[in-house]
Amino acid sequence: MKKKIIVGNQKMNFNVSQAEFFISQIKDNINTQECDVVIMPNITALDRVGQLIEDTNISLGAQNVYFEDNGAFTGETSVEMLAALNVKYILVGHSERRKFMDETDEIVNKKVIKILQKGITPIICIGETLNERKNNETNEVLKKQIIKALKNVENTKNIIFAYEPIWAIGTGKTATSLQINETFKYIRNVISNILVQDISIIYGGSVKPSNIDEIINIDGVDGVLVGGSSLTNDFVAIVNFEEK
Ligand code: PGA
Repeated sequence: MKKKIIVGNQKMNFNVSQAEFFISQIKDNINTQECDVVIMPNITALDRVGQLIEDTNISLGAQNVYFEDNGAFTGETSVEMLAALNVKYILVGHSERRKFMDETDEIVNKKVIKILQKGITPIICIGETLNERKNNETNEVLKKQIIKALKNVENTKNIIFAYEPIWAIGTGKTATSLQINETFKYIRNVISNILVQDISIIYGGSVKPSNIDEIINIDGVDGVLVGGSSLTNDFVAIVNFEEK
């Protein structure tokens, strides 16, 4: 059976010493035999966290990257620079970046192509707003995001999609099992018209210890992307979920 993947996106939280403390708290308590665990600290803590998890099965992930190789792009970071820190996964198109940093589908696509060229796994975030769901536009929105993200992408297994309904991020609300199941089926169907390989799809949006067992066991769910709960001991409970 495919190993589930649990990704902790710590967003703009934790300076280096706080990130160090967090890793020291969770490191010995999480069971990485049953699933792949990825921690995405703030960029300033990437190097240090990478060192601290070197002797574990936890992988390092980055929250963002730029699509150019190097040069006059003040403040940006290349895939190559992240690869040198042993980063294995990079988040692309998170709804917060789409909203606050104008990350468009075209930018997402350029990043995906560059990340794949360097052999790293992009985790591509897609999702609808509450209004779009209410107006029955969810499928249309997701289809557009998927097609644009995968433009000119060659067949590869090395991609993960994260379905994150925007209305469930940081709100405490989660999509129902039925919504997740139906939406995942739709996403998988759209992707299968573009790529031959069966790629992983994970769910994000207010994942917490009280709902992890239900969400992770939904048919088609390959893992979860965790925001708020990746900043506390809740993350340990999430990683130690019960597979049914
Ligand atoms: P949340 O965030 O778990 O705090 O809802 C999820 C995410 O933004 O990836």
